[in-house]
Amino acid sequence: MNLKGRDFLKLLDFTAEEIFYLVDLAAKLKEKKKKGVPMDSLRGKNVALIFEKTSTRTRCSFEVAAHDLGMGTTYLDPSASQIGKKESIADTARVLSGMFEGIEYRGYGQEIVEELAEYASVPVWNGLTNEFHPTQMLADLLTIQEHFGRIRGIRLAYMGDARYNMGNSLMVACARTGMHFTACTSQKYFPDPVLVEQCREIAAAAGGSITLTEDALAGTKGADVVYTDVWVSMGEPKEIWEERIRELSPYRVDRGIMENAGEGAVFMHCLPAFHDLKTETGAQIEKSFGIREMEVTDEVFESSQSLVFQEAENRMHTIKAVMLATLAGED
Ligand code: CP
Ligand code: NVA
Repeated sequence: MNLKGRDFLKLLDFTAEEIFYLVDLAAKLKEKKKKGVPMDSLRGKNVALIFEKTSTRTRCSFEVAAHDLGMGTTYLDPSASQIGKKESIADTARVLSGMFEGIEYRGYGQEIVEELAEYASVPVWNGLTNEFHPTQMLADLLTIQEHFGRIRGIRLAYMGDARYNMGNSLMVACARTGMHFTACTSQKYFPDPVLVEQCREIAAAAGGSITLTEDALAGTKGADVVYTDVWVSMGEPKEIWEERIRELSPYRVDRGIMENAGEGAVFMHCLPAFHDLKTETGAQIEKSFGIREMEVTDEVFESSQSLVFQEAENRMHTIKAVMLATLAGED
């Protein structure tokens, strides 16, 4: 397996074997890190980290992973660079390619990161767009593999806004790896029909399946993984909260949903999550709409079935695998 020079823009661009390779490489790197084995084989290289949206996990993962590999990092936020305002994506790509060995981009439309990759002569990694969040997928697959000892055949139910980056990406990840994906939400929030059809074909060949249902209990019955995400994503207007709360509240992950899924089921969430009142937004929502929890109850979030912090740590190990594989082509 040699991924040297490849971009990492969406999971659709990768075969199941390539995805499993990256997950296994991340597992090896995680073990090495725990044992304190040095892994700075990319010493002398530098990566640019462009963030047009905020981040805790993705930024920290790229920075820590790059530093562990011996690389330098430069963080660019939209207010501190010329990107988009005074300089096009195509020009930015060519400027950064002359100074850095790799470029991470988090922002809005998928077409932006695709354009960046087209013009860059170094690997480009997608740190989240409106449509896809591929590095999150590798962390989720590693977490599932660690917990269940396998990925193929696992049944994953996704609740909430399934037509945005997380719903799309999980559907693709499940299809590619032979998992069973169920989008369990109101019809309005089902993923794009064209992507659903594409994923159904991929899933059929890989031994998985794609199901869409509005029935929260039927959709989560017997699920191994119950997954959700925020109801309003970065870049969406705050006026949309009222509508989302009304339409997605029937799909909140609570104790009833987890019991319906079954004893061995786990809860996953890409984070950040609104499960209590300890955030500005959470407090504001309670004041405006009188609800204390949103996509997941605090009880489920804090339960022993919740894998969210293991999942968050795995962001770093999997992002390290992506950088190592695409920059060095080897472990
Ligand atoms: N899950 C995730 O991408 O988190 P951040 O927004 O903190 O990077
Ligand atoms: N759907 C969320 C994911 C955050 C990691 C967002 O785009 O804000």
